[in-house]
Amino acid sequence: MQLSCKNGRVIENVNLSKDVFRIEVEGDFNIKPGQFFMLRCYDEEPILSRPISVHDNEDGVVSFLYQRKGRGTSIMTKLKKYDDIKLTGPLGNGFDIEKIKGKIAIVTGGIGIAPMLYTVKKLRECDIDLYAGFKDEIYSVDEFAQYVSNIYISTESGQYGYKGYVTDIFSPFEYNVVLCCGPEVMMEKIVKVCKTYATPVYVSMERHMACGIGACLGCTCETKHGNKRVCKDGPIFYGRDVFIGAKC
Ligand SMILES: Cc1cc2nc3c(=O)[nH]c(=O)nc-3n(C[C@H](O)[C@H](O)[C@H](O)COP(=O)(O)OP(=O)(O)OC[C@H]3O[C@@H](n4cnc5c(N)ncnc54)[C@H](O)[C@@H]3O)c2cc1C
Ligand code: FES
Repeated sequence: MQLSCKNGRVIENVNLSKDVFRIEVEGDFNIKPGQFFMLRCYDEEPILSRPISVHDNEDGVVSFLYQRKGRGTSIMTKLKKYDDIKLTGPLGNGFDIEKIKGKIAIVTGGIGIAPMLYTVKKLRECDIDLYAGFKDEIYSVDEFAQYVSNIYISTESGQYGYKGYVTDIFSPFEYNVVLCCGPEVMMEKIVKVCKTYATPVYVSMERHMACGIGACLGCTCETKHGNKRVCKDGPIFYGRDVFIGAKC
């Protein structure tokens, strides 16, 4: 694995919706879809770098789609063109895209859409549908239009698309593989419904991270095969290995 710690230069950092931003950084990396970087744009506080998935990677530019949550991501929103940002990565296993073929459903909740753009761009011999759920405002969906056959949107507020949860509008019927990223409660529902159709589903898991490289065990996640590190063994897991209790 090519892993490096680099200073990248910000190309742009745009506000897409209330708390969601897309930052583009100069950097030439060999990245697998679903991998992430530990990002750092402050000297001392907060102490830990923050894990953010690769949203896109093309022509020496790496993009990240991120949501302002706490101190780390709030500082990130202040970055301007030509500012420096430290990138450690690419990290994690990523999607094994060679094994993903046929009719594919991508199911996302909120900022869980972030790792899926680069993923759909890298999938080969696939017919892809996107199911994207949001609370209220939608973002990033337009970027998928040229890579997928259908886009289905839900919002909890009813402002766009179906009013309700993305899990209400998704059925695994006719899909060969499902890729999912979002809140755990949503991913568990998707794993459960996929189980009834015996459809394989891959989930991208989130844990607080300290080192990001497998050394501190701070990101441990229970799986059918014992405790695994989300940063090193994941973040992509086979859904039924993680949501063991997702009975149909
Ligand atoms: C693999 C992965 C990929 C991700 N990809 C994205 C993405 O593409 N876009 C996006 O918006 N978000 C993503 N996230 C979530 C993102 O990392 C968090 O939203 C971000 O770290 C919040 O940082 P903050 O400083 O703004 O928030 P805060 O809530 O202030 O701080 C969160 C940070 O505090 C520390 N922390 C807090 N509690 C604990 C604890 N109990 N144990 C250890 N450390 C703790 C950790 O460093 C944690 O990251 C991803 C997370 C993971 C694990
Ligand atoms: S964050 Fe340290 S082992 Fe995963």
